[in-house]
Amino acid sequence: MDDPLNWSADDQERALRAIAPWYDLDFGPLTDDVAMFEELVSPGQRVLELGAGSGRIAMPLAEIGCHVTAVDSSEAMLAIGEQQMRETAVEVVRDDMRCLQLGAEFDLVVFGLSTFQHLLRREEQLGSLRTARRHLASGGRLIIDWTAPRSDDVDPSPQIMHLEWVRHAESGELVTKSAAQELATERRCGLPVDRGSPIAWITYQYDAINEGGEMRRSLARFPLRVNLNAGEMAGLLAETDLRPVDWFGSWDFEEVGEGDRLIVIAEAVS
Ligand SMILES: C[S@@+](CC[C@H](N)C(=O)[O-])C[C@H]1O[C@@H](n2cnc3c(N)ncnc32)[C@H](O)[C@@H]1O
Repeated sequence: MDDPLNWSADDQERALRAIAPWYDLDFGPLTDDVAMFEELVSPGQRVLELGAGSGRIAMPLAEIGCHVTAVDSSEAMLAIGEQQMRETAVEVVRDDMRCLQLGAEFDLVVFGLSTFQHLLRREEQLGSLRTARRHLASGGRLIIDWTAPRSDDVDPSPQIMHLEWVRHAESGELVTKSAAQELATERRCGLPVDRGSPIAWITYQYDAINEGGEMRRSLARFPLRVNLNAGEMAGLLAETDLRPVDWFGSWDFEEVGEGDRLIVIAEAVS
């Protein structure tokens, strides 16, 4: 279990099932990335979101007139917003972005909110970029948004859980989210980390207390590629015949290094 490279699709689904009931409460308030995507598309464009989850990004893009296809491999994640996505005219596809073949072309292909970091192995990263490339229309753009490297990413000492937020759920429950990140080091688990940035175990803990004072806990632990820098991404893009045309460091289009995101806009090399 402690070797993230043994992580299976079933393990992933189990973790996402624990997160799914709280996803909207957790990430619903996040709209700055959605605003960035809205600035980067025009109504009428065809958009493919890979790893679309609940449709948090896909739906607003459909609402401004884009033709959106939302792909995700997780039943639990799609179930959160599937009905609403269909009502918003988003085409929902349950499939794997590492090898997806829709036989359609798009003006914009998107990996939003650190989705790319779920790809643990280099061949999965390359497979997903080839998927993006394959679905780009002539002149189309790929946008990848992920968490910029932080010094904590490579700190091998055990990380403690920290409180992220306390919020009221629609059910009336008071929910707290705590999280921790722990590097999966060679020293700790004999991990044969493959080429590229390291993998960390992320823990999300949601505690919901109802009006009667009873508490229920949802715990999810999943691996994520961390410390993925622009140089590594540039190498992956070059290997898949994609060329960066712009880089940003935040959802407000700041320079790289000025924010806590890394965002690349790329196009196909013809
Ligand atoms: C961090 S969530 C982001 C969800 C959504 N894009 C958002 O911004 O709210 C990452 C999503 O990627 C999906 N995912 C991970 N690996 C995948 C794969 N190989 N194929 C399709 N979806 C995948 C997960 O199921 C999850 O819904």
